[in-house]
Amino acid sequence: MIEKKWWMQAVGYQIYPRTFYDANQDGVGDLRGIITKLDYLNELGIDLIWIGPFYRSPMDDNGYDVSDFYDVDPMFGSLDDAKELIEKAHAKGIRIILDLVLNHTSDEHPWFMEARSSVDNPKRDYYIWQKGKEVEGKHLPPTNWGSFFEGSAWNYDAKTEEFYMKIFSNKMPDLNWANPELREEMFKVARWWLDQGVDGFRVDAIAHLARDLSFTDSELPLNDHGVAPDWAKFSNREELFDYIHEFNEKVLSHYDCMSVGEVGGGAKIEAGVRYAGYDAQAFNMVFNFDHCWSKGGMDILNDDDKMIVDVVQLKENMAYWINGMKDKGWLPHYWLNHDHPRVISQYGDPEHNHRLSGMMLGTILLTLPGTPFIYNGEEIGMTNVDYESIDDFKDVWVKNNAPALLKKYPLELVLRHLRRTSRDNARTPMQWTDEVYAGFSTVEPIQKINRNRSWLNVEAQEKDDQSILNHYRRLIHLRKNPDYLETLVFGNFALLDPKNPDVYAFTRTSSQKKITVIANFRASTVQFEHQAKAVCLSNYLDTKLNITELRPYEAIVFED
Ligand code: GLC
Repeated sequence: MIEKKWWMQAVGYQIYPRTFYDANQDGVGDLRGIITKLDYLNELGIDLIWIGPFYRSPMDDNGYDVSDFYDVDPMFGSLDDAKELIEKAHAKGIRIILDLVLNHTSDEHPWFMEARSSVDNPKRDYYIWQKGKEVEGKHLPPTNWGSFFEGSAWNYDAKTEEFYMKIFSNKMPDLNWANPELREEMFKVARWWLDQGVDGFRVDAIAHLARDLSFTDSELPLNDHGVAPDWAKFSNREELFDYIHEFNEKVLSHYDCMSVGEVGGGAKIEAGVRYAGYDAQAFNMVFNFDHCWSKGGMDILNDDDKMIVDVVQLKENMAYWINGMKDKGWLPHYWLNHDHPRVISQYGDPEHNHRLSGMMLGTILLTLPGTPFIYNGEEIGMTNVDYESIDDFKDVWVKNNAPALLKKYPLELVLRHLRRTSRDNARTPMQWTDEVYAGFSTVEPIQKINRNRSWLNVEAQEKDDQSILNHYRRLIHLRKNPDYLETLVFGNFALLDPKNPDVYAFTRTSSQKKITVIANFRASTVQFEHQAKAVCLSNYLDTKLNITELRPYEAIVFED
């Protein structure tokens, strides 16, 4: 029997603060905006909020480039606002977790400014420095490793004539976790926020804290940028687990807090258990990305008609983690976060079956075992962007990579590609009303609003009993109903008909109940037989107890 903790029964909600709600009407979302919307979140039924980074930052990567961990960026408010938010959320029984960025700082962080000032500055070793290579008269980076956001994993620093490592943007130098003093500094940051009353952390980019310190070239073929995309050089490496244990021992284990690490692609169950096994003394959970791209056509050259969801692969990827972690560790579930396209555009059908497909996706998320996380706007079925100009895209990845794409492909193709895959898709302002700025702000927002706010917004869905929003509310209510909680949160999971190419179906069983969830991923009617005792919830009002087929995007929670 596992020891039951509060965060296992929680329903999480991720807020991207920049575009959630703008309380001071300057075009940018803020902490007071989140305070204003606490009643909305309470009514939705969630009880755990993960807030994206709001530390002081030059905003090269929207706050993931931190220049002061102990302060709130004025764009988002003040430390007092943060404290008030924590207090007011707690008063409603809502817990708050912060995004803890341990892998890097901003290049404008005082540590880095000192570190780059001279090779013998005491802070030099907080970062990772190497000399370049002289090859045929050219001064090249120390290795051929690629970075996630642009070109090389190294950037040249002219003053000290060395390269610093940066696996994200040039403005995000990587911290050197091999340095014990640096580790203590980062533990201090975490402790300080826990002492302010936060309930834990989503730990950013955690898989990358350890690198191959032999700094040898990768054997992988070089990509268009002339670098090797060899993430293994700085992902899921052995020394990392020592750092996480130390973090657990010195910080996390002293608080009643929860922690969820972001491990990205590439990690397998064995690593999952080491990151977040019940006995791992590391984190409570880890997010993996395996289910995020189960759709063909993400390649820039693919046409729309080839973009069919691979339901079998999606089920396999999710079941791999659910079954693999069973009895070993707890799992979080999510459809998307701020780094992914909108799930309804990816796996649903926003144009022809917005309501039904949005409800269908919510049904799966909220009936899986583990802790579900809803991403802001998902509960109303917000869609990918409709931008028609490259300038509307704000993400650092687009800024760094669009010029090269435009050299290779026509503008229309690049735009289509970005509208499908870009991180901007999830970052448009939350659509609260049909007003010109979607009730997000009264002035022009920092990021362009999606035009579909005219019909796709919270206000409209609150009035409509059959809206996606009201369906999410019902699903959360069902999950928290004491008669169902044991089964839906802790019960066993088994896929039904795993090879069915159109239907995602599974059972959840406990000693008390058996629940069967059946969801059609297609816009057409498909054959599927089931007979049940009761319909707990469906996205059609007239679902029968005995079915032989599923209607377009039909999603049913049956009690057997
Ligand atoms: C994580 C964040 C992402 C950020 C990156 C660098 O992957 O989710 O938004 O860009 O880390 O901090």
